[in-house]
Amino acid sequence: MRPATRALDAGLAPDPITGAIAPNLVASVNNIFTPGAAGFSAEGADLTEQPFLYARWTNPTTRALEDRLAGLEGAEEALATATGVAAAAAVFLTFLKAGDHLIVSDVCYAGVYELATRILPDLCIQVTPCDLTDPAAVRAALRPETKLIHAETPCNPILRLTDLAALCAVAKEAGVLVSVDSTLATPVITRPLDHGVDLVIHSLTKFMNGHGDALGGAVIGRKNLISRIRSRAGVYLGATLSAQNAWLILRGLDTLFPRLRMASDTAAQLAHWLSRHPAVTRVTWPGADDHPQRDLAQRQMDLGGAMIAFQTREDPATVATRMADRFRVMHYAFSLGHQRTICVHIGTDEIQRSTFRMEGAALSRWTDWAGAGVFRLSVGLEDPADLIADLARALD
Ligand SMILES: Cc1ncc(COP(=O)(O)O)c(C=O)c1O
Repeated sequence: MRPATRALDAGLAPDPITGAIAPNLVASVNNIFTPGAAGFSAEGADLTEQPFLYARWTNPTTRALEDRLAGLEGAEEALATATGVAAAAAVFLTFLKAGDHLIVSDVCYAGVYELATRILPDLCIQVTPCDLTDPAAVRAALRPETKLIHAETPCNPILRLTDLAALCAVAKEAGVLVSVDSTLATPVITRPLDHGVDLVIHSLTKFMNGHGDALGGAVIGRKNLISRIRSRAGVYLGATLSAQNAWLILRGLDTLFPRLRMASDTAAQLAHWLSRHPAVTRVTWPGADDHPQRDLAQRQMDLGGAMIAFQTREDPATVATRMADRFRVMHYAFSLGHQRTICVHIGTDEIQRSTFRMEGAALSRWTDWAGAGVFRLSVGLEDPADLIADLARALD
């Protein structure tokens, strides 16, 4: 099956009793033991290897979602979690222990960055933020205790890209695992495992579900790695995805490819329109000819994607107020990857104070991309002309 077909069909079989084609929503928290089956007495058995006993470590609907996700990423196995942050926490707390060292992208989703740089050091795990676009910087950050490098591409909110093959080459030399948050790309655009990545992380809350009505997360990769995560984090951290949300996300995945293709086409039109607007000083869209990493985007991304970052000549607070007042179609709100277009301003001062706390060269690398901040635009499925009319109302 080709990827667009796998988005609909991977792991899906009609119900053997009723013949139902759409996946069942199995709400049961527990399932009966089968006499004689391995694990019946539970003595010495790894219960997470048993298909369905208790829904904290898996449930039939969640497992159907996990099979679909593994199929989409071309992986052996997937573990679904309650949120995207829970997926990152599951990876960090499975592969890192006191004394170990993590290299984390110096720009990535704020919640994951704060988890890495605030919570992990309390557990005596050392953490180094690093510009992963620079292989020499990654080599310099490596230590004998380094166990994991965590990347994000395109990274939220500035849409800088990481060359996954180049990063994995450095990591492999050092025997270090690589995880990548591929939430903004989705498997429609990039399949990180093809580039040598060990673990793919998604916030399913975003494009994968695509309807803005369910939280979820996932880690996807080789069976031996995912089994370790399932038996540690899946069982003991308790951040399990509910069957109801798994069912909604499965429903969302059915349309993943057409949604991403349509939103990416619309993003191309909006990026072009914004780049010619006199009130706009800079537009970053990975599909644009003037993206600073255009060659990498063409190598690693099948589409430009549905995310745009842009900056305005006028004070962003004034523009943001006009957006909130004048948008008729878009929403001025947090989150991204939904069917409806969302825009929000991420100010440099604000995010540096709350999250990245960069100084010196690191701060100038950030401002080279983001200036005083970026409007993060997550393009949805509306008619492009209506979205352009909304932007015109806010910018004019
Ligand atoms: C790239 C990325 N990763 C992870 C997350 C966290 O996802 P969740 O809210 O599902 O925990 C987000 C949320 O915005 C995100 O943008």
